[in-house]
Amino acid sequence: MNTSVFIASAALPINYTTTWEAPSNIALIKYWGKYEPQLPKNPSLSFTLSNSKTKTKVIFTPHAKNEIDFEFFFHGIQKPDFKPKLKTFFDRIGEYIPWIFSYHLEVFSENSFPHSSGIASSASSMAALSLCLMDLERQLFPEMETVYFYQKASFLARLGSGSAARSIQGPVTFWGKNAVRDSSSDLFATPFGTTLHSVFDNYQDTILLVDKGSKPVSSTQGHNLMHGHPFAENRFLQASNNLSALVPIMETGALDDFIHLVELEALSLHAMMLTSSPYFILMQPNTLAIIHRVWEFRKETSIPLCFTLDAGANVHLLYPKQDIGVIHSFIKEELSGFCQSGQYLLDEVGRGAKKA
Ligand code: PMV
Repeated sequence: MNTSVFIASAALPINYTTTWEAPSNIALIKYWGKYEPQLPKNPSLSFTLSNSKTKTKVIFTPHAKNEIDFEFFFHGIQKPDFKPKLKTFFDRIGEYIPWIFSYHLEVFSENSFPHSSGIASSASSMAALSLCLMDLERQLFPEMETVYFYQKASFLARLGSGSAARSIQGPVTFWGKNAVRDSSSDLFATPFGTTLHSVFDNYQDTILLVDKGSKPVSSTQGHNLMHGHPFAENRFLQASNNLSALVPIMETGALDDFIHLVELEALSLHAMMLTSSPYFILMQPNTLAIIHRVWEFRKETSIPLCFTLDAGANVHLLYPKQDIGVIHSFIKEELSGFCQSGQYLLDEVGRGAKKA
């Protein structure tokens, strides 16, 4: 698809205020490795979450400066130090939303999860902001179709943070051209569709907060280390093949096969970090202790509890809603001891972003 379809015209400015909530997401098939402009080296697939989200309000006021001009507030406090990242985002998307040069923006953002929890907020925050921008664009061009609205919101969010493309819709989304869905694209995420097995509609994700500090190596640095990585091409191929294998599993609800691929993907992602040059380790001793305890628990109980990992030390535990009782006791009694201050977040698969 040609990106020119996403270039809007200029339009007469209006006063407008809107608020959107966008969730975080957790990848089952991991995106790790990219090229300009923020395009993935392999397709990915994720659960859209529900409780871990960003709420963003934007007040658009027309101005005559003909430049991008904004203020940013986080939990009500003005944050000039957050501005350079946002400025880069606005500079990237300006060509697609040229009407933005006619506005002054006040952006008010807040997260539902603790700021220093080690949970990346870039996906949910870029998604929420992109939806606010698209909401105004839809006021300016009311003939806009819903499919275009969501695709362009995902397209803009992607230019802020790759995985943010997958934080617009739910419950499961693809990002990246793949062999199993003709509608898939490197430019924006697309929903899994109606063939998803019902067990995944409300799949649970408990995020064990092993390390709440900031990561020693950012995901931007990690993606860059895939350039020239000796295993890169095989990893991109493995991710594509894993995605093709996971889709029918998610259609039939075959949980043993699901667990195998999801854990394989998490460990393959971290294997890339272990073998980058320079190499690095984001897992902590407690990350490994949890993984071993999850494997033991699964063996002892045959309950389909599995883990996945983000680019960090925290562990996402994934399980069907029907097993909540016994798994919550297990987490509370055994796994919380491996978490920083005993903390974990209960979340589940969600339906995607919504207007607040
Ligand atoms: O969107 P980024 O640049 O923060 O990269 C996300 C990378 C992973 O979270 C590790 C994997 C993914 O697909 O979300």
